[in-house]
Amino acid sequence: MNSPMTAELLTVSDLAVEFRTEDGTVYAVDGISFQVRTGELLAIVGESGSGKSVTALSVVGLLDRKATVTGSIALEGEELTTASEQRMQSVRGGRIGMIFQDPMTALNPVMTIGAQLAEAIRLHAGKGSRAALDKAAVRERCIGLLESVGVANPDQRLRQYPHEFSGGMRQRAMIAMAIANDPDLIIADEPTTALDVTIQAQVLDQLRKAQRETGAAAILITHDLGVVAELADRVIVMYAGRIVESAGVRELFRQPRHPYTMGLLASLPTLDSELTRLHPIPGSPPDVSQPISNCPFHPRCPLAVDRCRTEDPGLVEVDGGHLAACFRTDELIGRTPEQVFVRTVVEVEQPDEPAAAAEAR
Ligand SMILES: Nc1ncnc2c1ncn2[C@@H]1O[C@H](COP(=O)(O)OP(=O)(O)O)[C@@H](O)[C@H]1O
Ligand SMILES: [Mg+2]
Repeated sequence: MNSPMTAELLTVSDLAVEFRTEDGTVYAVDGISFQVRTGELLAIVGESGSGKSVTALSVVGLLDRKATVTGSIALEGEELTTASEQRMQSVRGGRIGMIFQDPMTALNPVMTIGAQLAEAIRLHAGKGSRAALDKAAVRERCIGLLESVGVANPDQRLRQYPHEFSGGMRQRAMIAMAIANDPDLIIADEPTTALDVTIQAQVLDQLRKAQRETGAAAILITHDLGVVAELADRVIVMYAGRIVESAGVRELFRQPRHPYTMGLLASLPTLDSELTRLHPIPGSPPDVSQPISNCPFHPRCPLAVDRCRTEDPGLVEVDGGHLAACFRTDELIGRTPEQVFVRTVVEVEQPDEPAAAAEAR
């Protein structure tokens, strides 16, 4: 945290993404603007379906062909929404490294981890440096990369196939691949959701370490506010394809200014001896097959008034660098999430044994 952050690396302005489907239009991302500054870790949080992945895929130009994208995404001034596919191929894995939720879909099952790492390095080596990239040098680099993400016996590991890696190890290999070409930006979309809790923490530590060592900025998409509190510099909260709140991480946790953020905080699990209690926000996210012209959270909001049903609050600065889209934001000051949201309780039995032992293999 608190490293000097000044220059804007990525500037997203009024980005909207719609999908034309047989059942109509899906308004997946509804006019969002944000920046990622050099070296910072920006977390994007929000419930499933809020547009987080679509936002990430827009940045790297990997959206479905059915998608219509408007607005602007600029990487140090270079417009990416209109860049050629050839250019985007070079941006992906070059200036921007990506880590997705399921490494099995990103890894080639019939190539060894070493061959895939080497390919990632060669693909992005500039013409001038290609000659210098002899086999031995590439191999050294691959070993160094696996070592740097905490994979033991990297020289043997390079000869193995993805299915010979555990889930946590595969995700480490993905981090190695994402940082192979010293990117300016790492985008990680729920990189640990599929992993056991103990392994999640290790993989996230490696991700943060890799980010620090390369000096890259990162966008970390997660629904885990614990992860956000620990790793992020700044946070964006998304709801129904919009940004409803954005702030520095301390400020967001100290004084959330949107009821939805309070709902997320109030819904964090609480633990007692053998039960985990979840406190979900009652209700469900809105249908995004219609354009929304009011506050999308009003049906679930304990503070909603008539105006929230008819008018769009828009995202406004409520404090220095702290933005929120809520007419009643000032009434949240000094109130805790639990005061705003009366907790509902869902009890969940805890799993017996973490799969950590198997992961260590
Ligand atoms: N390829 C697609 N075609 C149609 N709708 C899509 C497509 N991808 C995502 N969506 C829809 O866009 C919305 C946002 O999805 P997504 O960004 O994946 O959410 P999340 O925040 O869970 O990552 C959802 O309503 C989802 O169903
Ligand atoms: Mg997603």
